[in-house]
Amino acid sequence: EQTAVRRDRFSGGPARSFLSSLADDERIFAADLAVDRAHVVMLVEQGIIEADTAGEILAALDDIETAGHGALPDGEDVHEAIESAVIDRVGQSGGKMHTARSRNDEVAACIRYRLRSDVLELVGTLVGAREQLLDAAREQTGTVMPGYTHLQPAQPTTVAHWLLSYEQALQRDTARLLDAYGRINQNPLGAAAFAGTPFDVDRERTAELLGFDGGHASAASVASSDRWSDGVAENSMDASATRDFLVEVTSAVATLATTLSQLAEDVVVMASKGHVELDDDYASTSSIMPQKKNPDTLELVRGRTGDATAGLNGLLTNLKGQPRAYNRDLQRAGRHAWDAIDSVTDSVAVAAGAVSTAEWPAERLESAATEGFATATGVADLLAMAGVPFRTAHEVVAAAAAELDPDEDAPDFDALSAVAEDALGAPLAEYVDRAAVQRALDPAESVAMRDSRGGPAPDAVADQLAAA
Ligand code: ARG
Repeated sequence: EQTAVRRDRFSGGPARSFLSSLADDERIFAADLAVDRAHVVMLVEQGIIEADTAGEILAALDDIETAGHGALPDGEDVHEAIESAVIDRVGQSGGKMHTARSRNDEVAACIRYRLRSDVLELVGTLVGAREQLLDAAREQTGTVMPGYTHLQPAQPTTVAHWLLSYEQALQRDTARLLDAYGRINQNPLGAAAFAGTPFDVDRERTAELLGFDGGHASAASVASSDRWSDGVAENSMDASATRDFLVEVTSAVATLATTLSQLAEDVVVMASKGHVELDDDYASTSSIMPQKKNPDTLELVRGRTGDATAGLNGLLTNLKGQPRAYNRDLQRAGRHAWDAIDSVTDSVAVAAGAVSTAEWPAERLESAATEGFATATGVADLLAMAGVPFRTAHEVVAAAAAELDPDEDAPDFDALSAVAEDALGAPLAEYVDRAAVQRALDPAESVAMRDSRGGPAPDAVADQLAAA
């Protein structure tokens, strides 16, 4: 008879497997057990169900947990399958577990519960990755390298300064995730289908039992943006309908993935020029070309970005047409976030590993840093410091650059003098001396000059390292 009851609830016919999310729901199996336990404890504390029944249900949940997701009976989803498994063990009174709730508030609670730990894992991985980047940067504050704009040689910088540019971006990516965390961490239970329940439920209690406290590492941002701070998702229609917390996290993950992809692209380009030597653990070879050492791990980091971007797109597309309050489309929402998170969590660790174990060939990088007259801005700055309007200084250096032979990287003092007098109305030597120009043409000196806050000069980088 009990079996017949269950079959009625999940008929499905030819669409049975199409309707079922049971396989995907493995991800929220443990979360559902936690949500069931909290709900049952609240129900008995509120006198809504009897203590004996509650005890039997809780014991059955333990047993179901031990048996594992794979042992669940067939069902429309994990919520129904666990309920069926409880009824199998306890008898019809096991069905009291679903008093004063719906799968709508239940699944929303499960997703939030599981998402919290996924976000924390990703944040932990990110913090570790940032530490690796900082360690690498500490070693490379004096390693001059060419910096590019438009992929053209632009100005010398250092490997440390480049690494810190990514650490800083990853710091914001971490902050975005932690900010989203506070809005994930709210309790939809008690919303029931969407319209609340006549039972005297205690929503604060299930929030407390499940750790939904609106809690977060970045307290200030949540306190200022959320009206409700006791960890209860207030309006019952919003509580069961919304998945905006998934959008926030997936968006933060897609942003993070974009950061990682840019880092990966930099390393791929550097490797193609011999500007970095990847550790063998992070490189791959060709099955036919024996000489090849390819930056495959970074290319896969770049490639996985697509999973996160696609996840964000898929999620927004899933959600945009849904009217209040619950629609079955939502069963397909979570997967986009899970795919994005899984893909990117692995990418964080691999990208940081590849960069932190890489070798930076200092001499080769320094000589590359002079290519394409990349010290030109420093020479113009020198003239401007001597009182020449910067625009005039720019013209003088540009004119000297235009006269360069293709195999010359920079003009010398005499070449600059030859073009300067017209523009300056006086010999170059009246503004700057030969030695100062020579210094400005040297990439290490060029870096050392740029000691403005956040700049590449070793002192400025030391400040950034200390702050990070
Ligand atoms: N498996 C469903 C989901 O993930 C659970 C909610 C089912 N609710 C319903 N009204 N059919 O969204």
